[in-house]
Amino acid sequence: MAAPKSALTSDLVYGATHVPSQYVRPEHDRPNLGQVIQSDISIPLIDLQGFDGSRHSEIIKQIGLACQESGFFQVKNHGIDEAVIDNMLAVAKEFFHLPESERMKVYSEDPYRTIRLSTSFNVRAEEIASWRDYLRLHCHPLEDYIHEWPANPPSFREDVGEYCKEVRGLAVRLLHGISESLGLEEHYINKALAKHGQHMAINYYPPCPQPELTYGLPGHADPNVVTLLLQDDVEGLQVLKGGKWVAVKPIPHTFIVNLGDQIQVISNDRYKSVLHRAVVNSNKERISIPTFYCPSYDAVIEPAPKLVDDDHPAVYRSFTYGEFYGNFWDKGPNKNGTCLGIFKN
Ligand code: OGA
Ligand code: NI
Repeated sequence: MAAPKSALTSDLVYGATHVPSQYVRPEHDRPNLGQVIQSDISIPLIDLQGFDGSRHSEIIKQIGLACQESGFFQVKNHGIDEAVIDNMLAVAKEFFHLPESERMKVYSEDPYRTIRLSTSFNVRAEEIASWRDYLRLHCHPLEDYIHEWPANPPSFREDVGEYCKEVRGLAVRLLHGISESLGLEEHYINKALAKHGQHMAINYYPPCPQPELTYGLPGHADPNVVTLLLQDDVEGLQVLKGGKWVAVKPIPHTFIVNLGDQIQVISNDRYKSVLHRAVVNSNKERISIPTFYCPSYDAVIEPAPKLVDDDHPAVYRSFTYGEFYGNFWDKGPNKNGTCLGIFKN
C-alpha cells in the first residue's frame, strides 16, 4: 500500500501557525504546562563508576532505591564513549533532515515491520494525533536487521550499529543490577528474556506553534523491560511523580533509564513501570532515542517465584511477550497508559 502523502508531522505542518485539528486534545487532556514541576534533581543520577568492582554493592543499593521510589533514574560513567553517542545523535538529525521523498521510502503503519518510519503513536488505533515522527528499528541480533536499515545518510548503519552494540552491553549490566537489587540471582532477568530483543525509536519532535494544545507523546508506560533513553539538549520529557508531572532536564552524555511493564510483572509489583510523556515547544526541534530492551516474543514472563509467597501472591498470570506486545499495539495503552491490567490474576 502506498504511504499516504504528507502523513508526517514534520512535513504536514512545516511552517504552520496553528495546530491542525487532528492534533488538538480536548481541554481535560492537555499538558497544563504551567503546572509542571521544574527541578534540577527530578530523578536520581547514579554514577556507575566502580560497578564491576569496589562500588558494586553501593550501586546496587542505589539502583534498588531508585527503582522503588521513582522507576526512573539517570546513569553517568556508564562506559559508552561520548563519540558513539554524539555520532548517534548527529546521524539521527541528519536522517530527519533528509527530503521527504527519501524518508518516506521506509514509511509504514504496520507495527510488526522490523523497520519503519511512522508518525504520532499508533495511527491505526488512536483518535488524536501526537506531534511526533519516529523511525523504529529492531536491533538485536544486529546481523538479522542491519541490512534493512536506511543506507542514507551514508554513515547510518555504522553509527547506529555501533551505538546499538554499546547500549545492549549497558542494558545487560543494568539488568544484572536490577536483578540483584530485587534479591534475585544476577542473571535472573537476563535468563527470563529468553533470546532477548532490542528495539529502538528515533523520535523527532518538530517545533510546534501551539504546544499547550497537544503532546509529542501522551502519558504512557513502556511495554518492554527497561528503556535507555538518549536525548539531545532540548527539554521535553516529563515523569509522573506523586501525582504531578515533573520535567527532566537533559544532562549531556547520560542515559535516562526507566522500568517497563515487564519489570513490574517479574518483580511482582515491587517495582512499577512509571507513566511519562513528551511535550513539545514552539521554537526548537527535539530528538530523543529510546532503546527498548525487551524479551524475545517467545519468552514466558511471570512474577519471579522467589518474589511470590503467602503475603505476596502472584499479581500476574504468565504470558508470552508476543501476547503482551500484540495487545499493546492492537489496543494501545488504555487511559492509565498501560495494558498490564488484562494480565492480572
Ligand atoms: C518513548 C518515550 C520520551 C521522550 O518513546 O517511549 O517515552 O522524551 N519518549 O521522547
Ligand atoms: Ni516511553
